[in-house]
Amino acid sequence: MNNRGRFGSKLGVVLASAGSAVGLGNIWRFPTEVGQNGGAAFILVYIAFVLFLAMPVMVSEFVIGRSSGANIVHAFRKLAPAKWWIIIGFLGVLGGVLVLSFYSVVAGWTLKYTVDAAMHRISGTDPAQTFNSFVSDTWSPMIYMALFLLLTHLVVIRGIKGGIERYSKLMMPLLLFIIVILVGCSVSMPGSAEGLRFLLKPDFSKVTPHVVLSAMGQAFFSLSVGIGCLATYASYFNKNMNLAGSAINVCAIDTLVAIISGFIIFPAVFSVEGVQADAGAGLVFITLPHVFSSAFAQMPLVGYVFSTLFYLLLLLAALTSSISMHEICTAFVSEHYNLTRKHAATLVTLVYLVLGAACSLSFGPWKDYTLAGMTVFSWFDFATAMFVMPIGGIFITLFAGWYLDRKLLTDELTNNGTLKVRGLRVLIFLIRWVAPIGVGMVFLNEVAKLFK
Ligand code: PFF
Repeated sequence: MNNRGRFGSKLGVVLASAGSAVGLGNIWRFPTEVGQNGGAAFILVYIAFVLFLAMPVMVSEFVIGRSSGANIVHAFRKLAPAKWWIIIGFLGVLGGVLVLSFYSVVAGWTLKYTVDAAMHRISGTDPAQTFNSFVSDTWSPMIYMALFLLLTHLVVIRGIKGGIERYSKLMMPLLLFIIVILVGCSVSMPGSAEGLRFLLKPDFSKVTPHVVLSAMGQAFFSLSVGIGCLATYASYFNKNMNLAGSAINVCAIDTLVAIISGFIIFPAVFSVEGVQADAGAGLVFITLPHVFSSAFAQMPLVGYVFSTLFYLLLLLAALTSSISMHEICTAFVSEHYNLTRKHAATLVTLVYLVLGAACSLSFGPWKDYTLAGMTVFSWFDFATAMFVMPIGGIFITLFAGWYLDRKLLTDELTNNGTLKVRGLRVLIFLIRWVAPIGVGMVFLNEVAKLFK
């Protein structure tokens, strides 16, 4: 028996994995991408990528994680002794480091806006100026980032069952409950029909090759696949978990939350005249404060409840995702260097504090330190979305589909033949052929463009 810890229930597994998947990517990035890239047409492309490319990667990660029962680096070492596959494990740890470093900066902004909303301090007068002066400051965004990392740290040090599972079981239902309230508020606002139309009107002319790549990047990021995050969680799964079924549940929850977030944001945005809908990344921190304060002026209680719950939702989503990214590195450091979970997590948090600070400064004093026109923050974002996740996805599916013994793959998926998995052959076909070739083609196409 090992002392790595285990998830205690099936519900805990699905909620923790869905917690990893549902994050800033769903509530903030997805609606913006839909709004800008062809509405329902983008949603269709996105769903196809989730089903045919990202879901097979997720199932492969589950197989690799559970069958090895180890962190992502040791998983490859165990399953493929003395082979170069271990590089994919290290790439995963690197991905975890890069993503959480920039993610915690945005999560820090979210924490600040949650506090402001709760204290009635969201102001509608020039929200762009308020936001820009906050993020370009040296210390305050860094302090919020550090506080966010501290929250993450406090969950991770409590271990799998008492930390990650327990808090996911608390936070995910709360998150889903808040979503339901917010959709109700948003669609009942005047002018909301126009917002729904904007979100859903299919415009296939906007689905360019670049949009196709961004849909794939978004699917990978949103489902947390390609960097061994879900493989790490799966290393704590029980042997009776249905891997394929859980992956489908997680994909469904994640996609639904992403689409419903659009139903929260756009009707609200369109309810205020003169507000630009496709305001890009500023949507959540600039456009919405404007919307909230105007709602507040007309209906003070609704405005207050709406804004506070919205940022709280974003914060909870960010937290359940960040603990999963932290866990990739904590599991690796603690098992590789034989450290206790507390010591490993502390080391990992310290590294995140330093790298997160560099990302945070990218909006302030370091905004002119650029390489090829990109700041540290943009580099971290670009490197993971563009390289680490797709490359990880390709090799993870190749590993599960071709390197691993076919019998081991089938045994894992069917729990040694005790479970009947509908569509098993289709799933294996997706893992072996469709996902690696599909991701490879989209990836190479985009890399070729970089060198043109
Ligand atoms: N899936 C998360 C989101 O949509 O915000 C982000 C994420 C979490 C990416 C965990 C990668 C990861 F390993």
